[in-house]
Amino acid sequence: MPLEQLLARLAPGSPEEALARQIDFGRLPAHVALIMDGNGRWAAMRHLPRVEGHRAGIDAVRETVETSARLGVGVLTLYAFSVENWKRPRSEVSTLMQLLKQYVRLEIGTLVDNNIRFRVIGRPEGLAPDVREELAEATARTADKTGMLFNIALNYSGRAEIVDAVRQAIAAGLAPSDLDEGRFSEFLYTAGQPDPDLLIRTSGEMRVSNFLLWQIAYSEIWVTDTLWPDFRCRHLLEAIVAYQKRDRRYGGIGPTRALAAQPR
Ligand code: FPP
Repeated sequence: MPLEQLLARLAPGSPEEALARQIDFGRLPAHVALIMDGNGRWAAMRHLPRVEGHRAGIDAVRETVETSARLGVGVLTLYAFSVENWKRPRSEVSTLMQLLKQYVRLEIGTLVDNNIRFRVIGRPEGLAPDVREELAEATARTADKTGMLFNIALNYSGRAEIVDAVRQAIAAGLAPSDLDEGRFSEFLYTAGQPDPDLLIRTSGEMRVSNFLLWQIAYSEIWVTDTLWPDFRCRHLLEAIVAYQKRDRRYGGIGPTRALAAQPR
């Protein structure tokens, strides 16, 4: 069904159609995490102010969310604003917040229609009240949706998330001996969600930038030179096709090598 659902949206004979046909829908990444990067460079290449790159990035967000949901990805997490991003000029931060509000207001209907549950991860208490209100409404209106979970990381820091989790565990009265990795992950912002199988980063940078530090321990990383505003359905499909060709070993030797290592 997801293949037909996807093909209905793709031009016959297009590279997207060819990629979609390569995907094994039984082995989709349960969680795709994405570092959207390159908006500023996209704008600079066009002699535009940086914020125009962020504005253009909204189309990429829309297409990525809809394609992921149509594919049948369980969780999509987009890194939209880090704790460190407050260091940017005030006007850029303010435009980013306005764009975020606009996106949420305009897209809420599409999220509902596509059975997508919206959630914020990070420290939303650090955001302005009007932004928090918009986010809270979208969260509440999609709370009963059972399709893809769409996390947006806002005022997010992977290290802060780990500190917050430790604080929560202490507040819950856990003794050090009660804690193990599984129990600890129940205090993360992503409690109950699978760890990302696939981490995508745009604009060619080879960094994880304080994103989901605990959760990406065994994620497959796929980096594209494409700048975020140019990221489209084709790139997401390319990432998934590449992911499905990886030999995931989790520190072991993996099925291919295990077979070769068997005594004859
Ligand atoms: C990184 O590009 C991008 C960001 C810090 C913000 C991402 C935000 C959006 C795509 C728009 C709003 C998001 C949503 C979800 C509605 P950069 O500015 O660091 O680019 P550069 O490295 O080329 O300077």
